Amino acid sequence: MNAIHVGLLGLGTVGSGVVKIIEDHQDKLMHQVGCPVKVKKVLVQDIDKKRQIEFGKDLLTKNADEVIHDPEIDVVIEVMGGVELTKEYILQALQAKKHVVTANKDLMAVYGTELLDAATENGCDLFYEASVAGGIPILRSLVDGLASDRITKMMGIVNGTTNFILTKMSKHGSPYGEVLKEAQELGYAESDPTADVEGLDAARKMAILARLGFSMHVDLEDVSVKGISEVTDEDISYSKRLGYTMKLIGIANRTRDKVEVSVQPTLLPDFHPLASVNNEYNAVYVYGEAVGETMFYGPGAGSLPTATAVVSDLVGVMKNMRLGVNGRSAVLPQYEKALKQSDE
Ligand code: NDP
Ligand code: HSE
Repeated sequence: MNAIHVGLLGLGTVGSGVVKIIEDHQDKLMHQVGCPVKVKKVLVQDIDKKRQIEFGKDLLTKNADEVIHDPEIDVVIEVMGGVELTKEYILQALQAKKHVVTANKDLMAVYGTELLDAATENGCDLFYEASVAGGIPILRSLVDGLASDRITKMMGIVNGTTNFILTKMSKHGSPYGEVLKEAQELGYAESDPTADVEGLDAARKMAILARLGFSMHVDLEDVSVKGISEVTDEDISYSKRLGYTMKLIGIANRTRDKVEVSVQPTLLPDFHPLASVNNEYNAVYVYGEAVGETMFYGPGAGSLPTATAVVSDLVGVMKNMRLGVNGRSAVLPQYEKALKQSDE
């Protein structure tokens, strides 16, 4: 196979990590897919901006068409964020028969089904592992590793920014505003951190997890959400004194006749396994009827951990290209649709 050419939409925290991993792990990628991987073009807002990585300005563009419609580009990696414009770009890329990898939970939580349908129609892959829990391969674990089981509960810490804030407030008594600023500087927070601190980012991730884990449609509007913006220093110090740790916890529960998904600040006894998940780390507990209790743990935000998930998705796309089986990633939404129709 000749070189695989990749186009990026975005070169910020995650995009820079993607370029770095593609460059630094070229030997591993060659070993996995049998050909070199080259970044051909990258969409940015500001070509002259100082960047975290050395990157030739001739490879940067402000014109999305130069990425999406370049006939040489096989795979488009979307790491720019946002919803409506990004959806438009991804649809165009799929229609142009490009495979797509995205880290965008805002987009996948709202338009995931539509985009996955478009991927199927165009015989393309659309992978989004990085959209939930950064570097933890939780989506693949649900879809592949636990494919045979009936999952009834998922619970965990799925937002790195709020976990970083709560950890620093609790362990070092740092003020909320100061720690939020630090999380932004470290690249954990969204460009507008409201979604992090108000629990919306975690709600989007829980909706994605519930869909994949329970193989059914879950509307984001049906997820009940409360964030940490009203948590005070006093709340944290009282709970500490009583032997509890405050965490922003997402829960998805399936019983015989209903599914409930929620996100809220929760007091956990200090001995609870999730109480010791600190800083930007995430952890997801998954209960399956056959497997029993499983726990997934790792960095939930940040450049290289998130980029690892993105580039691993890229490897998945490239392996499918070699086998000629792209487009199978979208089987699930058809199942969702069938469930929806049978409900009506
Ligand atoms: P950044 O803000 O760091 O980077 C965004 C990049 O996209 C920048 O390079 C920016 O260009 C470019 N960009 C944004 N809007 C446009 C536009 N309209 N046209 C052209 N270029 C644009 O974001 P992150 O890297 O942190 O996040 C990217 C995505 O990954 C988001 O969907 C986020 O939710 C998701 N994500 C982030 C994680 C993290 O830890 N940061 C973890 C998991 C997922 P320029 O550089 O010129 O400003
Ligand atoms: N802002 C997100 C977080 C990035 O803090 O978890 C990872 O999705």
